[in-house]
Amino acid sequence: MEVSELLSRARNWDKQAIAKLISLIEDGVELPISVERRSHIIGITGPPGSGKSTLIYALVRKLPANKRIAVITLDPSSPFTGGSFMGNRIRMQELTTKPNVYIRSMATRGNRGGLNYAAVASLDLLEYAGADYIIIETVGAGQTDTDVKYVADTILVLVPPLSGDEIQALKSGIMEIGDIYLVSKSDTQASESVYNDLMAMVDIMREIKGDEWKPMVLRVSGLYGYGVDELIRVLDERFAELRSRGKLNETLKTRRLLEWRLYAYELLNKAIERSKELSERVANGELTPAKAALALLGNEMPRLDHVAVAVKNLDEAAEKFRKLGLRVSGPITIESQGVRVMMVHLGNTRIELLEPLGPETTVAKFIERRGEGIHHIALEVDDLGKFMEMARNAGLTLTGEPTRGAEGVVTFIHPKSLNGMLLELVEHVRES
Ligand code: CO
Repeated sequence: MEVSELLSRARNWDKQAIAKLISLIEDGVELPISVERRSHIIGITGPPGSGKSTLIYALVRKLPANKRIAVITLDPSSPFTGGSFMGNRIRMQELTTKPNVYIRSMATRGNRGGLNYAAVASLDLLEYAGADYIIIETVGAGQTDTDVKYVADTILVLVPPLSGDEIQALKSGIMEIGDIYLVSKSDTQASESVYNDLMAMVDIMREIKGDEWKPMVLRVSGLYGYGVDELIRVLDERFAELRSRGKLNETLKTRRLLEWRLYAYELLNKAIERSKELSERVANGELTPAKAALALLGNEMPRLDHVAVAVKNLDEAAEKFRKLGLRVSGPITIESQGVRVMMVHLGNTRIELLEPLGPETTVAKFIERRGEGIHHIALEVDDLGKFMEMARNAGLTLTGEPTRGAEGVVTFIHPKSLNGMLLELVEHVRES
């Protein structure tokens, strides 16, 4: 089935279509969706054993049947812990028979922030499909499990009955990100002191945060459904408030950035796995780890920085490249070189368009002599001084001492000494 057909089915909450589309996302396919915020995205975090699955079960059962509810659960894919969470899932499976509830379990593939690309990109799809609530259950791996704050409108931190020391340990990580703290298993004696501890913490946070929303503490017991009605009331109240203050689109911005970051991580991990040759050279000490990292990103030095083309009419030339769907930046005027310059951006390099400022400039003379066309090729080097020395030792002629250009320090190798090629050498100024 075509993606467009699946999307229109997903729009009507066709759970099979949603499942297929999420599988496509997991394969790295980017779906053509523009997001409009409509779902209340609720992140549920807390240490292992705090009862997250049980709470989700109780929450989903009590939410109205005319609301569309999606649940994403993230499992650590480690072979050591992978199986142990399954017991909790069995009851959740029962919920999938409800037509308004869609549940998906995903492997985190060891991503450190607790979320993965597919989970974040699936939020776009689930909002598109008209979900009223999207519940994300994270791994609960403590301090590293905090990516959820970039996507969730509301974060629930589930705290089981713990000792004072354990609470203290939690405070440095996930404890700081909560909007609502839930004392779970509130039918037990030990939960009373946890509740008091959390109330004291929230009091301090309220003073520090100064946010419109004040973090709060509720008691719940997922097992008996105790406190869940109150939780739903608070959640709906909070969502209405966030919406009225225009906060939903703020979360969308941080979510896009996270999605971008996570996609890049996955590409990077795949590239590392594929780079057998590079990893061998690193292991053997042939290549430093830092240089190998640059090579992995296609930034091995020296690299082709740009190919420069002399043109008579800069704006006309730029327009042609724009029509080819390429991004063009500039113009900038460089008086010292007698040119007006625009850059056409390509994957890992650029085309530099040069228009002479007057008839006496070198570029004007070049066009007069040879017509429009390739004027020079530029290499980016990481140490210009060292490269110039190698050029001199190779018997090449440099056109002069380096000068400060728009992007860094620049010099040229004369074409007479290099097979008719004018070679620009540039060392970019890096912010340190
Ligand atoms: Co150039």
